[in-house]
Amino acid sequence: MKRQTIFDLYEMKRRGEKISWLTSYDFPTAQFAQAAGLEMILVGDSLGMCVYGYSGTLPVTMDQCINHTEAVRRGAPGCFIVGDMPLGSYQSSDAQAVDNAIRFLKEADVDAVKLEGGIRITSRIKAITDAGVNVIGHIGLTPQSSGQLGGHKAQGRTAETAKLVVGDAIAVQDAGAKMLLVEGVPPEVTKYIWKTLDIPVMSIGAGPHCDGQLLIVSDLIGQFQAFTPKFVKKYCNMAEIVTKAMQEYVAEVKAGQFPDEHKYCYHMVQGEEEKFIALMKE
Ligand code: KIV
Repeated sequence: MKRQTIFDLYEMKRRGEKISWLTSYDFPTAQFAQAAGLEMILVGDSLGMCVYGYSGTLPVTMDQCINHTEAVRRGAPGCFIVGDMPLGSYQSSDAQAVDNAIRFLKEADVDAVKLEGGIRITSRIKAITDAGVNVIGHIGLTPQSSGQLGGHKAQGRTAETAKLVVGDAIAVQDAGAKMLLVEGVPPEVTKYIWKTLDIPVMSIGAGPHCDGQLLIVSDLIGQFQAFTPKFVKKYCNMAEIVTKAMQEYVAEVKAGQFPDEHKYCYHMVQGEEEKFIALMKE
């Protein structure tokens, strides 16, 4: 599969073809995503919750993000892969943001990096873009600032706050971002942003009126157990499927049914068993 570029995604927007985007954190899931036809993969800092079992994304480090992104790139060489800049990797200065964005490019071969925030991070977006790295903005419900937002709450539900979200969207585009992700915002507001901006607008929990959708893979396959946001559709229940398989394994081991000696064993070469018995008697 030819590697997707930002120009392919722009072309999809021009044609009115929706872009499909999913998170992945490991090699096999990335292989499944590419085989399923996903154009984009986000190696989100949600890996903190989905892979490491933290209660949020705040403890996630650059090294963790780089390691997982490298594995995902190996699994999905043809997808447009986005590295997610974790808390502490871009807040201090434009220089810190550029250094960490370049790390993603050099060490994990990403096609873009994603940063949370609107008006207040425009200098970071500009600095990274000027350094030659594609930036995807992320506004609305931004989990890294959940302390300031009063938790993981939908944003822009009143006219006044919706205007602030739109201001963030315009600022992110003006700063040079190549794409915008809107999270946890009413569809009416996302639609307004989509009609206003030129760059592709993607949604996670922000309705259908945009250029494409993002979901967290662990939600989509029913693997993440802690909670299920309102906007998530579970396409299968991995927790149930895997637990059932493990229960069957436990039962078969305890009953001595696994492994069936005739099916799941490497047997001695013909005639060697007799020699072996004789040898052991010497
Ligand atoms: O880390 C992540 O997966 C994200 C999504 C929630 C947008 O940033």
